[in-house]
Amino acid sequence: MKIELAENYGFCFGVKRAIKIAEENVNAATYGPLIHNSKEIARLDKDFKVGLVEDFKTFKAGDKAIVRTHGIVKEELRALKESGINVVDATCPFVTKPQEIAQEMSEAGYSVVIFGDEAHPEIKGVKSYATHGAVVVTSVDELEDLKLHEHIALIAQTTRKVEDYMDIANYLIPRYKEVRVFNTICNATFENQDAVRKLSKRADVMVIIGGKNSSNTKQLFNISYENCKDSYHIEDENELDMNWFANKQLCGISAGASTPDWIIQNVVNTIEKSIN
Ligand code: F3S
Repeated sequence: MKIELAENYGFCFGVKRAIKIAEENVNAATYGPLIHNSKEIARLDKDFKVGLVEDFKTFKAGDKAIVRTHGIVKEELRALKESGINVVDATCPFVTKPQEIAQEMSEAGYSVVIFGDEAHPEIKGVKSYATHGAVVVTSVDELEDLKLHEHIALIAQTTRKVEDYMDIANYLIPRYKEVRVFNTICNATFENQDAVRKLSKRADVMVIIGGKNSSNTKQLFNISYENCKDSYHIEDENELDMNWFANKQLCGISAGASTPDWIIQNVVNTIEKSIN
């Protein structure tokens, strides 16, 4: 069996940037997980003494708080700064952008519609910037009974599939006077998705590596599964089952934007060892 890595996979620009910021700020703590990968978070704790704080009230004046890649709620950011905490912002610039759009469009009187997962930290953050509120939807069905202004600003979670976002835009455009559709889907996601789509069409087994709570890894898995029913989402090599590879010719591998190279390499090495 041949093993082939997708053309684009793994760490994106925003995650690389956040990890560099964390490594440069020893003895700090991130507010919420810096990225959606518990193993990398444990490494930062062990090697750089960068801990994890889940409740922002735990921070004391003088502490150093690193804001997670997905960003945080506007009021919490203000509260941290006002409490004398040294805030180091590792929010990905591609997440800061939709936050700014939400604020600007809301203040300009637009109904802000966000296509994404309401429970996801990124969306909680983006929503909090819409001064007059925003609605969050995951499908066209949820738009049917909504009362919106004639002027709409549409924003997507950075990790959403373009095709699904277009469905939302296509529903709104003929029904409202003005619909401003902002392309807030990040390129890294798009490139990783495109690469997994191509590879999963050729492979007869696919392994997608990433945190079980990582939205972009789940999207990669869904795309892979559409083309290859033998697709598996694992967090690391310990979850591999070698039966998956019996009588297979090509094993494709991809990884979410918050999956470090060392975990990907461990998976590849374990599969290689077992097939040889
Ligand atoms: Fe940023 Fe895109 Fe990565 S939004 S954190 S560069 S997946």
